[in-house]
This record gives sequence, structure tokens and C-alpha cells, in this order.
Amino acid sequence: MTTYGLIGYPLGHSFSRKFFTEKFEKEGIDAQYLNFEIPSIEEFPKIIESHPDLRGLNVTIPYKQQVMQYLDDISPEAKAIGAVNVVKVSPQLSTVNSKLSTLNSKPTLTGYNSDVIGFVNSIRPLLKPHHQKALILGTGGASKAIHYGLTEKLGLETLFVSRTAREGMITYDDIDASVLKEYEVIVNCSPVGMYPHVDECPALPYEVMNEHHLLYDLVYNPLETLFMKKGAAQGATVKNGLEMLHLQAIASWEFWGNQEKL
Ligand SMILES: NC(=O)c1ccc[n+]([C@@H]2O[C@H](COP(=O)([O-])OP(=O)(O)OC[C@H]3O[C@@H](n4cnc5c(N)ncnc54)[C@H](OP(=O)(O)O)[C@@H]3O)[C@@H](O)[C@H]2O)c1
Repeated sequence: MTTYGLIGYPLGHSFSRKFFTEKFEKEGIDAQYLNFEIPSIEEFPKIIESHPDLRGLNVTIPYKQQVMQYLDDISPEAKAIGAVNVVKVSPQLSTVNSKLSTLNSKPTLTGYNSDVIGFVNSIRPLLKPHHQKALILGTGGASKAIHYGLTEKLGLETLFVSRTAREGMITYDDIDASVLKEYEVIVNCSPVGMYPHVDECPALPYEVMNEHHLLYDLVYNPLETLFMKKGAAQGATVKNGLEMLHLQAIASWEFWGNQEKL
């Protein structure tokens, strides 16, 4: 049976498996979606070898960078971002004679980044002409795709905010009214506020925010984070990461060579 799957560690409750299993059932697609919880990326080649029906993988924490060494090709976008969260597995047909084609045991592996597509397509409808500069909270894996999307796809200027003072970045203590007057888009790429820590939010002077601000949280559990609540109370536009999650899954499906039914 055509197989897709997710690699990461630990996987626990996986959005992707539920999303694709429901999609296959609803649309009568004869395929399965498996979770591959691997403690080391060195197990990646074994998964490919032992699942000849595998046609695509999603990649999550902590392997979005480590998986790149095993791929035959990486899209220019994923290369620029420095992270792959989708792998297309293409079996190679080798012609034995003019009539007979056999499947070569080593498929071609191509890496893509669908996080950037999910983010860009979900934030774009909310952007107004005055949204020229964005703060990116957190400097982990997800922040790279967000930075790429904001600068290369949406034409905004960005500034990273980290807990640690580093060149070219600011810290939370540096954010005052003048910074928030200049940076009217704020994207939370940190896990702060995620379940079960729902009473926490990034350390910002929320009281100086207003209706010009757009607060986008990559977190989607809870659906309304404290970051969003505090921004909304000041009149800001707010959005959680759920649509991004759905859109990146649909983009994965298309990267694997399938057409999304509209
Ligand atoms: N909606 C979606 O589709 C989607 C996709 C990808 C990720 N996400 C979510 O986005 C978030 C970030 O993902 P990630 O993979 O980038 O995570 P990550 O690498 O673990 O962390 C992101 C960054 O957040 C900052 N941070 C971590 N703990 C913090 C704390 N206690 N207080 C303040 N800052 C803290 C750190 O930056 P500094 O050390 O520089 O402060 C860290 O590098 C997660 O909640 C993830 O679930 C959502």
C-alpha cells in the first residue's frame, strides 16, 4: 500500500498522522500514514530501505536539519532556509530490457520546506501596507522559515529577539514603546505559552500595543494563547498557528506529487 509517514523524536500525539489518516479515509485514497519515532537520524536510511512503498515523509523536531545529509536534492528554498520538513521519495525505474522495467532499490530523495508556505499563505491576508517591519521571537528551527518567508516572500524587514544577547539581535529587555512603534508585526516562534504553560507569554510591553499591531503565534495549543489575548485586548489583530499547520500539510501532499482536491 502507498505509504507516507513522519520522522521525529519524540512523536507523542502527531497532528500529521491524524490529518492524513482522516484525509485518506474521507477521500477514499488507498494509502497509509505511519509514525517513525527514531532516536537517531542514523536510522533514516533503514526506514527508506525497509519501506519500498514509501512515497513521502514529513520531518519534525529534531531532524529538520540532520535529514539534509541523506537527500539527493534539496529545493533552493529549503536550502536557503536551512531546514527540510518534507521529503519526496521517488522510486527509480531501471529498464532491464525494452519490455520490462523494475524498481531500483534506491529511490531518489528530494527535500522541501512546506512550513514557509503554510506561514506565508496564512499571514498574507492579514498584512496591511503599514506592516513593514517584524519582530521574530525566538531563534530556533521554526524561526528560520519565518524569517525567510517574511523577508524573501513578503518583503518585510525583520529583527530577531532572543533571550541571549547576540550580534544583530535584540533581547526582550530592549523592547520598549519606540521599538513596537517601528515593528508592528510580531511573530512568536518560541514555545512560550504552549500547553500546559498556558499562563505564560513572551515578555513584551503589551500595554503600548494598538490596532496597528499584528500578533501571530506559531503555537496552536491552546487556540488562543495569552500572547494573543493580551494583544487582542489592546486592539491588535491576532492569529494562531493552526492554519499554518494545515497549509503546510496540504503543501506536503502536493510536494509528494499529488494534487489537492479543491
Ligand atoms: N504552526 C505550525 O505549523 C508550527 C510549525 C513549526 C513550529 N511550530 C511551533 O513553533 C514553536 C517553535 O518551534 P521551534 O521548532 O523553533 O522550537 P525550538 O527550536 O525548541 O525553540 C524556539 C526558540 O524559542 C526560544 N525559547 C525556547 N524556550 C524559551 C523560553 N522558555 N522563553 C523564551 N524563549 C524561549 C529559543 O530562542 P532564544 O534562545 O534565542 O530565546 C528557541 O531557540 C513551537 O511551539 C512549535 O510547536 C508551529
